[in-house]
Amino acid sequence: GIPVGVLGIGKYAPERRLTNQELEQVVDTNDEWIVSRTGIRERRIAAGHEATSDLAYEAAVKALSSANITADQLDLIIVATITPDMFFPSTACILQDRLGAKKAAAFDLSAACSGFIYGLANASGFIALGMYKYALVIGADTLSRITDYTDRNTCVLFGDGAGAVVIGEVPEGRGFKSFELGADGSGGPHLRIQGGGSRQPSSEETVGGKRHFIEMNGREVFKFAARIMGNAAEEALRKAGVDKSEIDLLVPHQANIRIIQASLERLELPPEKCVINIDRYGNMSAASIPLALAEAVEEGRVSEGDTIAMVGFGGGLTWGASVLVW
Ligand code: ACO
Repeated sequence: GIPVGVLGIGKYAPERRLTNQELEQVVDTNDEWIVSRTGIRERRIAAGHEATSDLAYEAAVKALSSANITADQLDLIIVATITPDMFFPSTACILQDRLGAKKAAAFDLSAACSGFIYGLANASGFIALGMYKYALVIGADTLSRITDYTDRNTCVLFGDGAGAVVIGEVPEGRGFKSFELGADGSGGPHLRIQGGGSRQPSSEETVGGKRHFIEMNGREVFKFAARIMGNAAEEALRKAGVDKSEIDLLVPHQANIRIIQASLERLELPPEKCVINIDRYGNMSAASIPLALAEAVEEGRVSEGDTIAMVGFGGGLTWGASVLVW
């Protein structure tokens, strides 16, 4: 097929910082516990008027300008999110209207923290087949809206943000070399929101029972993540015919510093070859990987021809990895 790669990239994080010291005032926790168990020092929290499409919009505008194209040239918009503005219309449709991307097809994709990689795989397939020329793929989440700030097991972990890329044809030899996507639905109960869907429609009972908040079995998710991050990355490398020693930059999902460290050990990579920003943002679900990549690009850590490995896991349970030559 046609070689497909990243033409432009952008990110957005709300201004408001929520520090560990502030969380100490809200739940029975402390900075030392949070930093040593998770690596997180602060996270960004959306302002009252901001919803997921607003975060996505800011990242999208930057990605379009860095790709040097206009919104009306887009053929496709995919927003990976588990915190859409509303059930429907999709966040992608809301964004399509706001951007003025009149000819773009638009849909949301639900794969939790793996959503951005799932979105890239989808969109690059359309382009590789010659169906579409330009696609906008966004990971955006406003996890603060589905977090129970009385539950210390979860509220220290999550933050809000968005990362966006424009993808399209690139010169031969560059672009996405492989995707590895997977799911294990049997692990779904370890990470979920039960209320508000067709199984448990919103009611006083679902609200009172806090079933509109993230419910998580941290230990089970941790065990799954520590294993699957390495497996998925190695599978993506194998499919791309790339050895782990050839990785210039690893962009892992930012859920827990100890999970990232386990991935580095498994791939035998030094920390300098890894993007780590969990200390400043926490876990932003689908936004973590694209925002981390955008930051690495802004900081001049990515050069043409570099081999980048991205890998994530999340609710579903799901996982996704990709090897990309920049
Ligand atoms: N402050 C102080 N103590 C705490 C806190 C806190 N914020 N949170 C939990 N504890 C306590 C627990 O209650 C427990 O106490 P107990 O032994 O008396 O019951 C103790 O700390 C140890 O708990 P563990 O679960 O063993 O702690 P662990 O080292 O596993 O760390 C953590 C917990 C950070 C949640 C870890 O399991 C983890 O990161 N798991 C993965 C979570 C994840 O990646 N989720 C992805 C979500 S992505 C998405 O799709 C939205």
